[in-house]
Amino acid sequence: MTEVITIANFKGGVSKTTTTVMFAYILSELQNKKVLCVDFDPQANATEILNKTFSEPVKAASNSFINGIRNMNLHIATTKLSKNLDILESNWDLSLFPEVAEDYGKDKQYLVLQALLHNVKSDYDYVLIDTPPTLSVFTNNAILASDYVVMVMQSQQQSYSSSIKFVSYLQQLRKDYKAKFDLLGIIPCLMKNTGAVDKEILKEAKKSLGNAMLINIIYNRERVKRFGKSGISNKDLWDTRTINMYDIVLKELLNRIQERDK
Ligand SMILES: Nc1ncnc2c1ncn2[C@@H]1O[C@H](COP(=O)(O)OP(=O)(O)OP(=O)(O)O)[C@@H](O)[C@H]1O
Ligand SMILES: [Mg+2]
Repeated sequence: MTEVITIANFKGGVSKTTTTVMFAYILSELQNKKVLCVDFDPQANATEILNKTFSEPVKAASNSFINGIRNMNLHIATTKLSKNLDILESNWDLSLFPEVAEDYGKDKQYLVLQALLHNVKSDYDYVLIDTPPTLSVFTNNAILASDYVVMVMQSQQQSYSSSIKFVSYLQQLRKDYKAKFDLLGIIPCLMKNTGAVDKEILKEAKKSLGNAMLINIIYNRERVKRFGKSGISNKDLWDTRTINMYDIVLKELLNRIQERDK
């Protein structure tokens, strides 16, 4: 069965893209799963990092993502980065997506990606969708195409407040569209090992968001920044430790999926 997972939060710069590409890397390279990464953000950061990671794609797409959308055919827009990892690459022209979606009418404009993925998702074990930092036609389409939403939350007051609002937003969207997606979990991100304020905010978040908060944490690590700049690598001890930090969080999320599937 394919699991479609959106990584989101309407706050910017909280590590959505980094989390998406790290999960895509771990699932495809280390766990031998078939993965489609959907870069659904015209900023194209996920595309950039994965292109640096897999600098020689197995097969490049013949069309852009936006053309794939216009033609209702994602196959023509899929780039094969490695044996197990495919990507729908973003580009600035993806910013035209809201106009394309609008043509489907008020009721259907948020269900375009769901319809598109319906035809291709069975090729994959996981479809991971990266989203822009806005409540937009992009984010709504991503969420409504998903089985699960994973939120990333930075240990800052503003990020905590945004996360609370985002949870309410998800509940409303689920109700309005009679959708079936679940909030799989909230990942505490960019924690400084020793930050007292970070710890206080995390405690507060656990109180109000309860079980939605994951137990495992993503810490602020220089090596993650390096991955952003030069691509993900798994060559030395620091690479391995960094990948491991994400792997532990990913395992916690996958365990939750297993529990729910039971
Ligand atoms: N665990 C981490 N340790 C150190 N730096 C990190 C970590 N996670 C992300 N970063 C850095 O933080 C910055 C923002 O991360 P990222 O681009 O993933 O956030 P985002 O939520 O996708 O941003 P946007 O809202 O613009 O899409 C990047 O420079 C990234 O390299
Ligand atoms: Mg991003």
